[in-house]
Amino acid sequence: MPKPLFAGNWKLHKTVSEALELAGAIKSELDGLSEADVLICPPFTALKPVADLLAGSSILLGAQDFFWEDSGAYTGEVSAPLLKDVGCSHVIIGHSERREYFKETDEMINLKLKAALAAGLTPILCVGESLEKREHHVTKEFLSKQLTEDLKGVDREAAEGMVIAYEPIWAIGTGKTATPEIAGETQAFIRTLLADRFDRDLAEGMRIIYGGSAKPDNARALLAHPDVNGFLVGGASLKADSFVEIVRFSLL
Ligand code: 13P
Repeated sequence: MPKPLFAGNWKLHKTVSEALELAGAIKSELDGLSEADVLICPPFTALKPVADLLAGSSILLGAQDFFWEDSGAYTGEVSAPLLKDVGCSHVIIGHSERREYFKETDEMINLKLKAALAAGLTPILCVGESLEKREHHVTKEFLSKQLTEDLKGVDREAAEGMVIAYEPIWAIGTGKTATPEIAGETQAFIRTLLADRFDRDLAEGMRIIYGGSAKPDNARALLAHPDVNGFLVGGASLKADSFVEIVRFSLL
């Protein structure tokens, strides 16, 4: 089973000084942890100062998004080489908030995925269904389509090491966490899709993490399912106490 990954997606929160305070507290509690990997994804403006603070620690740094071209006349954008330059090892791709508010399509997400892999950044590809899709019992069809389109043209060698985040939209920021049964069953299904798309070995080694109102009091039960290999935490990652508790309670 893959080693768990605990990732904090800070979204649009934290000034540089707030980010340094939070990252410092996380580092002092979780640096050197051997049972799991810990990753934080601050906003762009805080990446470099946080990278400097984390230097030499085991805490990993990721960005929340980027543009697929390396450089050029793309006002306002940030590329994979620029993220690597400031010390990022990971990048979140295809978060449902980007899909919804910034109209990112599966085609764009596929371009980002390939650009991240080509640059040597580990992508955390987010997939997940809306409440409407779940209630209409079309979650599996939807996830299958999303993964097929997002992974188009990605070869096995490149895919190794990437992370999938299952984030049911109805659970994000709502306080309604998926039950361990729902998360586990859906993530097991995602693993069968990966086995079909690549092969069994790769699918079994790939981390599939869960996101959507993950909290200290539900993390342990979710992580107990063999197909839940960690978390992408939003709200509860904005305070050191709750993020650290998620990690500690899960690993007890
Ligand atoms: P919440 O943990 O706030 O529900 O957010 C989940 C998420 O979107 C992580 O990417």
